Amino acid sequence: MRGGRRTNLALLVLVAVALATGTASFAVGAPPATSLVTTAHAASGLALLLLVPWKQAVARRGLTRPAHPGRRAGWLLSVLLLISISTGVVQEVAGFTTVLGITALQVHVATALLAIPLLVRHLVTHPQRPRASDLSRRTLLAAGLLGAGALAAAGLTRRLGPASLAQRATGSTERGSFVPSRMPVTQWFTDVVPPRAQRDAPLLVNGAPVELGVLDDEVEAVLDCTGGWFATQRWRGIHLDRLLGAAPAGARSIDVISTTGYRRRFPVEQAGELLLATSAGGQPLSPGHGAPRRLVAPGRRGFWWVKWVAAIEVVEDPPWRQPPFPLQ
Ligand code: HEM
Ligand code: HEM
Repeated sequence: MRGGRRTNLALLVLVAVALATGTASFAVGAPPATSLVTTAHAASGLALLLLVPWKQAVARRGLTRPAHPGRRAGWLLSVLLLISISTGVVQEVAGFTTVLGITALQVHVATALLAIPLLVRHLVTHPQRPRASDLSRRTLLAAGLLGAGALAAAGLTRRLGPASLAQRATGSTERGSFVPSRMPVTQWFTDVVPPRAQRDAPLLVNGAPVELGVLDDEVEAVLDCTGGWFATQRWRGIHLDRLLGAAPAGARSIDVISTTGYRRRFPVEQAGELLLATSAGGQPLSPGHGAPRRLVAPGRRGFWWVKWVAAIEVVEDPPWRQPPFPLQ
């Protein structure tokens, strides 16, 4: 196989698309966005594998050259990306499973992120310049064939898993629907289940302690965790529009803040869709799932469903003024 500059440039585009769509797959919560993003993600990731025969030729040429800067980083990059791609496929085929407390998806995302500095170093030590002639009809045809092959490979991996694997378009598999005690307990990065005394502090709404009154709002909603599992439950509590009353003039957002300091901000217009829940499936929430109260944010990924809610504040800041993913 003859591989060269165009193979390298194709790899660059594909890794960039895989990183962008992988990150976007955590941000989108409902179809059709979820299917579009994860299909593009699977195809760009698997297209990297389809280019291996051509890249092998490039890399082999590197081995015939005397030792040079960035060689080791290039090989380490290959190892990390191969682990990332294979653990991505494991998540797709086997679903949410833990081995020694670690999931395939955690290894997948960690190796992808670790690959970024190595890729940057590889680009610095092995620069390649695009040329106007790269946009020839032949390259476009090759790109089209690669795209078709990648989509076929993505379709194939989706059929490899057992038929019983209930999977959402986000790639998450079903765990504990309508049986809340069977849902895994997962937290965003450094967040931990707080001690009881801390969880049981009174709820503050706009700075004042509030007793929750009648809790008879109920919704059936899917909690789709970025850890790779999802569960449908009947959540019971009170919708934020009822809890907060009419929003004051100038209000643009609602901040929902956990006793751990974890927080997310929502557009004030969505108050009627957001539920402050105290029970699921007729049972009070467990400590791992946010007792005594958590937010239910239908259509959004799990990291929006703030647990151990300690305070809710209506603010004038716009909803976009927050990091897209929690920094905690
Ligand atoms: C170099 C970067 C990356 C590559 C090459 C890559 C590649 C892949 C591949 C090949 C799959 C399997 C898809 C399938 O078999 O259908 C996958 C799944 C997945 N990846 Fe990535 N990925 C990368 C980065 C990321 C990042 C940064 C995230 C999230 C922050 C992410 C999240 C996911 C998720 C949630 C799945 C499961 C969704 C599905 O099954 O389609 N990936 N990835
Ligand atoms: C994305 C995945 C990539 C992997 C896993 C990868 C891996 C490697 C490896 C292992 C080598 C041989 C190591 C060496 O001798 O230095 C190599 C060589 C090379 N790579 Fe990459 N690479 C990737 C992407 C890229 C990109 C995006 C570019 C540039 C745009 C590039 C440009 C080169 C060049 C110019 C060589 C040298 C070939 C020679 O010495 O004749 N690579 N790559």
